[in-house]
Amino acid sequence: SSSLTKLEYLHNTAIAVSSDGIIVAIEPECDASKAKSLLVPKLGWDSGPVSVEILDISSQNSKFFFPGFIDTHLHASQYPNVGIFGSSTLLDWLNTYTFPLEASLADTQKAKRVYTRVIRKTLSHGTTTAAYYATISVPSTNLLADLCVSAGQRALVGRVCMDQLGPDNYLDESPEQSLAATKECIEHIASLNQSLVRPVITPRFAPACSLPLLRKLGDLARETALPVQTHISENRNEIKLVKELFPTSATGARDDSYAGVYDAAGLLNDKMILAHAVHLTESEADLISARKAKVSHCPCSNSAITSGAAKVRWLLEKGIVTGLGTDMSGGYSPSVLEAARHAVLVSRHVAMDGDEKAKLSVEEVLYLATRGGAEVVGLEKKVGGFEVGMEWDAQLVGLGVVDEDGEEEGSEGEEGNVDVFGWETWPEKVAKWVYNGDDRNTRKVWVRGRLVHERK
Ligand code: GUN
Ligand code: FE
Repeated sequence: SSSLTKLEYLHNTAIAVSSDGIIVAIEPECDASKAKSLLVPKLGWDSGPVSVEILDISSQNSKFFFPGFIDTHLHASQYPNVGIFGSSTLLDWLNTYTFPLEASLADTQKAKRVYTRVIRKTLSHGTTTAAYYATISVPSTNLLADLCVSAGQRALVGRVCMDQLGPDNYLDESPEQSLAATKECIEHIASLNQSLVRPVITPRFAPACSLPLLRKLGDLARETALPVQTHISENRNEIKLVKELFPTSATGARDDSYAGVYDAAGLLNDKMILAHAVHLTESEADLISARKAKVSHCPCSNSAITSGAAKVRWLLEKGIVTGLGTDMSGGYSPSVLEAARHAVLVSRHVAMDGDEKAKLSVEEVLYLATRGGAEVVGLEKKVGGFEVGMEWDAQLVGLGVVDEDGEEEGSEGEEGNVDVFGWETWPEKVAKWVYNGDDRNTRKVWVRGRLVHERK
């Protein structure tokens, strides 16, 4: 995407990626026979023999490269619970399903099993960058970071901070201990000496953090310039709880709004990722916009646990940078494509409530899933699109082609839910993918040039 509403198609175009995963040249009108001679000089190795691998999809009008998806909000630790939420809403969902599971991942054997699977699963759905919440456990959070590095998934990994609201077996002992544990994880990730996985300061959400803890994390964010992620204004009872727990007399905030609490703690800045933002007031949205904080829109979660319909058009019109999050397992699916599709539908519900211009297009939700998400996680110069200088975080998408007899062409394992007859335009093919595609269409996935998933 070149802008929110415009999806750019690079037909018959060759993209040259260096061995360290950087896009070094983009050559339009370049067929496979010309690719090598045109691109090798641009790789800057004119002299001597070079080995170039060419992946040619030009003969197949059902395949295309697409930027990898950015999942701006998900809980790696909650993956075993996908689809398990009954008819709960946020606060009882946390107590019934979420806290017990997260507490159990203090067992690093169990955490290894779960996190290994989450990474494989999200990569198989084309998620090349994930902003993960782990748990309060330092060893298992560090393990998640290690596993992302070895699997080659780009990630923000956050150790969850919470010193109130949780059950006795799943709480930080004090603000000091919570801060120290967070620093341990930050130092561990720094010790890995790589740049794919970065730490993120993660106060769970205001109701689960004391004011001293929020303030300490605000100071840490300022000292380290690290990103921060949390939840905001997801559910009406949650918002009520925030007003009770954080009176302005305690916070010194200008009002008792949810955003005001984070702002008073020094957390609301341009590196802050706020998940949900369903029920923001006008003045809160204006504050978020003024502070340049980002929003992760999590439509599957907001529908599943009955939180509400976030007004994405309204956020965008306020200039708030927005991306998509699966919020697994508040959200029922690890797929950003599913979140994109659901974002379209939720925007229709907002439109049916009277705001016709609220409708998001296929192009717009794909922008949120890539460019928007990249900006939310602070990686807009590196990923989210195909431009010279950016890194090759990409997916090869393949749609099902229907032959003369009405059968699907192609090899075993390549079948999927999307049927293309051959007369569709490219925008139509992409729309078919958005509405009916799934991981069967995600044939190959790369992060920084490394092949990290291949559908067999
Ligand atoms: N608010 C606080 N914790 C959570 C969580 O784990 N998921 C969601 N969706 N909202 C939260
Ligand atoms: Fe969440």
